[in-house]
Amino acid sequence: MPDVDLAATVHHSGGSYPVVAGWGIIDQLGPRLKELGVKSPAYIITDSNVMNPHGRRVQRALEAGGIAAHCFILPAGESSKSFELAQAIYQWLVGLRAERGQAIIAVGGGVVGDLAGFVAATFLRGVPFIQVPTSMAAMVDASIGGKVAINLPQGKNLVGAFYQPRGVFADVQTLATLGRRELAEGWAEAIKHGFILDPALVDLFEEHAEALMEVSPEISTEVIRRSMAIKAGVVSQDERETLDIRILLNYGHTIGHALEACTEYGRFLHGEGVSIGMMGAARIARELGMIGQDVVDRQRRLLERFSLPVRAHGVTVEQVLRPMSLDKKVQGGANRWVLLERVGKAVVRRDVPRELVEATVRELVS
Ligand SMILES: NC(=O)c1ccc[n+]([C@@H]2O[C@H](COP(=O)([O-])OP(=O)(O)OC[C@H]3O[C@@H](n4cnc5c(N)ncnc54)[C@H](O)[C@@H]3O)[C@@H](O)[C@H]2O)c1
Repeated sequence: MPDVDLAATVHHSGGSYPVVAGWGIIDQLGPRLKELGVKSPAYIITDSNVMNPHGRRVQRALEAGGIAAHCFILPAGESSKSFELAQAIYQWLVGLRAERGQAIIAVGGGVVGDLAGFVAATFLRGVPFIQVPTSMAAMVDASIGGKVAINLPQGKNLVGAFYQPRGVFADVQTLATLGRRELAEGWAEAIKHGFILDPALVDLFEEHAEALMEVSPEISTEVIRRSMAIKAGVVSQDERETLDIRILLNYGHTIGHALEACTEYGRFLHGEGVSIGMMGAARIARELGMIGQDVVDRQRRLLERFSLPVRAHGVTVEQVLRPMSLDKKVQGGANRWVLLERVGKAVVRRDVPRELVEATVRELVS
């Protein structure tokens, strides 16, 4: 029977895996994971915000399906993506005599997914890995595509791997426990997916903005499935970011990352930086004659309906420009810009004049 909750299938060099999203699907995880070959016991990695109620629910669902599950609870927050915590998890696994065929299950946001995935990729040279994302960023982005990493004091995600999960299971109901600001920043990533690759997704956002902010079950699930399918399609075509395809997902990220970095990751949530960055990229595209003012205005109106910021006050042009030169997407000294040609079609450009970037940032911070 076809799986009605299946959003997409990711294809990669080593095989494929299902990306599933549904309302309340955590309760079905026991049989679903058994089908994927997950054995007893399994090892849940979660964080202090997510354990209750979501981590506990996953544990109960697995146990009801005959899979005993141990839980490791990380302190919530980006600082947990560290060598120290990876080591603590390795030692916990060794203490429990974990074996090679037994799975690690990440239940949480992108921090939990990245760290648990890094541990799964390296412990005993790799153990099965399952993603149960509970934040929007993790559902529509981080859990799909197999990028796993930890941070170093010198920078984010500097040590990592490509390590694909056996399955991604997003229970949209878990989003109801996120705060409004966290919810909105998550929707920013999904709105971004629409602008770069799926004009009909942008229409859906425009029709249902308020219902999405209320996490209304049907429409939220539909939009998340669609957004997950976009990410799954992109990573299936460009598994290791060697083509100019996966980079399209970085729309809004050049300025967005710079804003996060120059405020020491303390002021803007990631999706808020992306929202402002999308407005910067739209202005650049308009100045280059790629899109009209109507597209810039359409994007701004939609972001504002989600209470997302579209400008950045309290930072200077110089502060924003400095981290941009250190961006991972810089190649041969030039930033690679993801710009719109129209709603639902993005391209990569390496020829954006520095003066235009400066003028755009000036407009955003004024
Ligand atoms: N691997 C990738 O491809 C990829 C892509 C994008 C981002 N990332 C990484 O993801 C991380 C950001 O992800 P994030 O925004 O999910 O951060 P996060 O994991 O820190 O989660 C944000 C906050 O929300 C809490 N939370 C998560 N789910 C919740 C729920 N359902 N209810 C209540 N609270 C909940 C968390 O405890 C945390 O406090 C970064 O480390 C980033 O580098 C990775």
